[in-house]
Amino acid sequence: MGQTHLEQLFGLRGQVALVTGASSGLGVEFARGLAMAGADLALLARRFDRLQTVAKECEALGVRALPVKADLSDEDQIDAAIEQVTTQLGPIDILVNNAGIAPVSRAEHHDKAKWQQALDINLTAVFLCTQKVGKQMIERQQGGRIIMISSVLGEGANSVHKTIGYAATKGAVTNMTRQLAVEWAPYGITVNALAPSWFPTEMITDPRVGRVNDTQRERMELLTPMSRLGREGELLGAIVFLASPSASYVTGAILHVDGGWRAW
Ligand SMILES: NC(=O)c1ccc[n+]([C@@H]2O[C@H](COP(=O)([O-])OP(=O)(O)OC[C@H]3O[C@@H](n4cnc5c(N)ncnc54)[C@H](OP(=O)(O)O)[C@@H]3O)[C@@H](O)[C@H]2O)c1
Repeated sequence: MGQTHLEQLFGLRGQVALVTGASSGLGVEFARGLAMAGADLALLARRFDRLQTVAKECEALGVRALPVKADLSDEDQIDAAIEQVTTQLGPIDILVNNAGIAPVSRAEHHDKAKWQQALDINLTAVFLCTQKVGKQMIERQQGGRIIMISSVLGEGANSVHKTIGYAATKGAVTNMTRQLAVEWAPYGITVNALAPSWFPTEMITDPRVGRVNDTQRERMELLTPMSRLGREGELLGAIVFLASPSASYVTGAILHVDGGWRAW
């Protein structure tokens, strides 16, 4: 049976996608979206039990799914993870650099260890994964898709949380996206960033109350023209689009999914 029109536009059947930070939050949604479009999934993070649960969910959608335990602060573990994915699933067609952290403390007290953690995970690991997977894509000569998960806070300040390292690294990721898009355009590799505003995940949960705290939520809503946080499912279409055949001429783009946050 031939492909439907929708499959021609957005189908990812037979492609291999690696999603970092797939054990919680937005990474789970990205994995789910790519699986819904037919991609086989490699799911990377440190919490293996969580990855196994996500893998089962993806497999139930009719694709292969491989949980891969790795700490992105360790380059040897990144190398081993990429090797495991290519051996067990095949060459990576789609890389989603989603893993990230947001160490909180006021800029004047932000210690060097916190600063370094943000740099290691949000920037250096993103660069290393991209460089290693991108090199394979170049050698393979079949193009590829690289999707950065940046943030609207890569283009403006965060007046809700005190996260200087996060602001600095997301700004860098956003511009790294543009630089890579230009350098790798001749190879048919598109490099784009998804820039969400606020979505209620572990990252923005106040551990004291187990959810986004009310004062911060009010401020987020005030800063958002749609007066609400993002909901589960509202990033599915964006990730599939950037990975799909439909986005073949889209590169260096920063796609905001933000309830209008960047429109003020
Ligand atoms: N939530 C939002 O409002 C929002 C808005 C804009 C952008 N973003 C971006 O979206 C991405 C996902 O964030 P989230 O909100 O979904 O947060 P989250 O639920 O805290 O997820 C973070 C993910 O990163 C992984 N990770 C962290 N450190 C790691 C390490 N050393 N090695 C491997 N994996 C590591 C975590 O897995 P393990 O702990 O299992 O390793 C987890 O899967 C981040 O890049 C974030 O900046 C989020």
